[in-house]
Amino acid sequence: MAKTVIMEHPLIRHKIGIIRREETGSRDFRNLISEIAMLMCYEATRDLKLTDIEITTPICKAVVQELEGKKLAIVPILRAGLGMVDGMLMMIPAAKVGHIGLYRNEETLEPVEYYCKLPKDCAERDIFVVDPMLATGGSASAAITMLKDKGVKNIRFMCIIAAPEGLKRMQKDHPDVDIYIGAMDECLNEQGYIVPGLGDAGDRIFGTK
Ligand code: PRP
Ligand code: URA
Repeated sequence: MAKTVIMEHPLIRHKIGIIRREETGSRDFRNLISEIAMLMCYEATRDLKLTDIEITTPICKAVVQELEGKKLAIVPILRAGLGMVDGMLMMIPAAKVGHIGLYRNEETLEPVEYYCKLPKDCAERDIFVVDPMLATGGSASAAITMLKDKGVKNIRFMCIIAAPEGLKRMQKDHPDVDIYIGAMDECLNEQGYIVPGLGDAGDRIFGTK
């Protein structure tokens, strides 16, 4: 089984406390989602491999480390995942970005696919799938299945808030995927919203409600 990491960093906890508040407006919400994604990216890239290279400083030759040539890509699940992309790119600016469009049917809570555009060489890349919310887990699981169908092997999933139901589903459907979670919540309500959660992440990022 791959690892599941729940963030403990005080900055992440503090910022998640702010985005949960109903009075936090779209501008602050968007900025904070991006900042949290940046901090989580730092944690989720801890095990990237390094290699030694020799360089010349203005003083002398020196051996320094750089990331091994492994190519990375970020794949947000539309819409809300888009809010995490800028923060991730601040940390890994050379990453390519793919997009997977899924929305939840409000009655069945099943994910409906409407878009998929990935880097051509995605099968050779390490991919970070990002979405602020892991509720039933249907959307994240479907997105990862789409990537695996295209030959992608190395996938990590990052979300800001997770429900136990979604985590369980992901661990069952994709036991090979490392999961990074900003905060673990209590449960889902009857409408499939995370409790206490933060409401509808897409609507809060884009101000559509
Ligand atoms: C939200 C969220 C996830 C999904 C999580 O998206 O951003 O993609 O719900 O729920 P699940 O784990 O039960 O699948 P939504 O369907 O509201 O679409 P949006 O991002 O376009 O608002
Ligand atoms: N999607 C959201 O945006 N919020 C939830 O609480 C659950 C799914």
